[in-house]
Amino acid sequence: MKPRYLQIGKIKIEPILLAPMVEVTDLPYRFICREAGASLTYTEMLYIDAIIHENAKTKKLMQFTERERPIGIQITGSKVEHFKKAIPYLKDYDLVDINCGCPSTRIVGSEAGSYLLNNPEKIGEIIKILKSAGLIVTAKIRLGFKNNTVLETAKLIESAGADALTIHARLAHHGNDVPADWSWIKKVRSSISIPVIGNGDITSGKQAEAMLKIADACMIARAAIGDPDIFYRINRYLKTGEIIPFDLKRNLHYLKQYLDYCRDFSFTDLSRIKYITAKFFRNIEGSAKMRQQVMQCKTLNELAELADACLVASEQKTLSELIGR
Ligand SMILES: Cc1cc2nc3c(=O)[nH]c(=O)nc-3n(C[C@H](O)[C@H](O)[C@H](O)COP(=O)(O)O)c2cc1C
Repeated sequence: MKPRYLQIGKIKIEPILLAPMVEVTDLPYRFICREAGASLTYTEMLYIDAIIHENAKTKKLMQFTERERPIGIQITGSKVEHFKKAIPYLKDYDLVDINCGCPSTRIVGSEAGSYLLNNPEKIGEIIKILKSAGLIVTAKIRLGFKNNTVLETAKLIESAGADALTIHARLAHHGNDVPADWSWIKKVRSSISIPVIGNGDITSGKQAEAMLKIADACMIARAAIGDPDIFYRINRYLKTGEIIPFDLKRNLHYLKQYLDYCRDFSFTDLSRIKYITAKFFRNIEGSAKMRQQVMQCKTLNELAELADACLVASEQKTLSELIGR
């Protein structure tokens, strides 16, 4: 495939992005995905009130390193004036993405996330306020809250001045068992002129290629949890057509790197780190046992030692022996 680029404001990048994900996309995890080939990453969704009140956990999740750039911050909220107050906190990021897709009851209950799709004019006001501060602004939407309103919402978001739009091609109440309906991504892209980033169910180079036929870029979420190397495999496929199989050893190197970054950047939430570490042992023989071992670790050092032992074992092709120990 000919090289493709995504242009968002002044940011010009390759078109394979890591999605924002609560409990996943903190600095250490984003950084390994960038190293594996994701061209843009975002913080997880952060609540605007927590940003302006300088909530300690939110501040930690806002942390990024210069080496990650370009970096997006994803925010949500319900009060337009809170977005205005938050501007000083947003200026260091390369772009600001407004979450209009989160279906969680807590977020919808506070009239944020996907609830905003009921009031696209409010999304427009938020975009205008952030744009007037000179920020690069994007929005991430679903097809609609209860009904499909994606075409109207997309047009309104464009006319408010957004620099790009991400579409997760499901309604707010749809679970992941309902297939993402990409036909709407295609319809939206032919009715607006800002770049459209397609999202939903991309797990391979072939699917990324298919998405790039109807959208300007691909955003990957679940398939990248515990498998950062997916960005390498997809980029290689797009460039050469080569299908590279999942490689446990390469992935374990990323796991080690992730644990090192957790230490280096003082990310200490052990239950979160264990959740992510366990995901590295998906889809391999004996993964349930391996996950048990991860869950028994009591410190970051113990996790790092386990990752080291797995790496050595995988190099000697004795991971199954290790799992059986
Ligand atoms: C664990 C998890 C956390 C998520 N958190 C966010 C979030 O913070 N912001 C957001 O816009 N979407 C969030 N999502 C939705 C994903 O970004 C994405 O839209 C959805 O999973 C569909 O993409 P996929 O099929 O590649 O997983 C989350 C999804 C998962 C699985």
